[in-house]
Amino acid sequence: MIPTIRPRRLRATPALRKLTTETRLHPNELVLPLFVREGISEPHPITSMPGVVQHTIDSLRGAVAEAAEAGVGGVMLFGIPEVRDAIGSAADDPAGILNVATRAVVAEAGDSLVVQTDLCLDEFTDHGHCGVLAEPETPGAVAGVDNDATLERYQAMALAQAEAGSALLGLSGMMDGQVAAVRAALDERGFQQTALLAYSAKYASAFYGPFREAVDSQLTGDRRGYQMDPGNRREGLREVELDIAEGADVVMVKPAMSYLDVLADVAATSSVPVWAYQVSGEAAMIEAAAAHGWIDRRRVIEESMLGIKRAGADAILSYFATELAGWIR
Ligand code: PBG
Repeated sequence: MIPTIRPRRLRATPALRKLTTETRLHPNELVLPLFVREGISEPHPITSMPGVVQHTIDSLRGAVAEAAEAGVGGVMLFGIPEVRDAIGSAADDPAGILNVATRAVVAEAGDSLVVQTDLCLDEFTDHGHCGVLAEPETPGAVAGVDNDATLERYQAMALAQAEAGSALLGLSGMMDGQVAAVRAALDERGFQQTALLAYSAKYASAFYGPFREAVDSQLTGDRRGYQMDPGNRREGLREVELDIAEGADVVMVKPAMSYLDVLADVAATSSVPVWAYQVSGEAAMIEAAAAHGWIDRRRVIEESMLGIKRAGADAILSYFATELAGWIR
């Protein structure tokens, strides 16, 4: 039997492959997460994330300039404060590390890329949870993180971040109603132009492991009381629908590689841009295997990002953003 239909024809030469590829990556759709730590004078390495550091304000500026130079579309800032407390006071303090760093970087970046900030309390609380804890003695209170009390903290944090110049607030706390609460607070204070990125389908994932080291997390236990169950696909769409209805400008699926089905579902139905976050543990697995010589680091990074884009991501947060942007060029 001699086949007449031969898909291999279009794979025969580099020129044909280049012309017929369905998916390609572009630097502008990459976002680089960056960590900035209060009270250090030198960048501090993160053992479980080779090549990623906790920045000083100065080295942060350099990393942002480097990302912009490579054509990266945005940076997402995370702050690590020196002092933590039960309500995460440093988060909405204009002199808090994240807000100070945002101001410094916004001035530096100008229009070259979009400066974004993580809006969550876990880096700022002494218990490491993403919100304030319910008083155990409160009658009827659900044990764990108090949803509605946390919304008030997020509103204060949103105002501080918007005032500092963040263009896009990354709502990563998985509290019910957080998008509507933050939108209302911003609009009331004249920040109608500050956009909201909702981490809508955010799963309670072990792939965040290295991030805990990156932000010196104080968490004991887990976040299953507010982040999603890894077994739930349908619920990812529900969270996305709610966030769009509440005013999210962008929705996100996180982690990326183990949740590509959810990402494809969301991409098929969302009326707003859909982003995905290739998280710390995903990057760490690639780095560890590559360090052993078991995989080709560059090819695996490119393929992993291509897979996330092919599944439906319009933009991708990745610790490889600057490096990948350099290769793409
Ligand atoms: C919450 C937040 C986390 C990550 C991003 N934002 C940690 C968590 O939810 O436990 C994880 C990112 C990563 O692992 O790279 N502030």
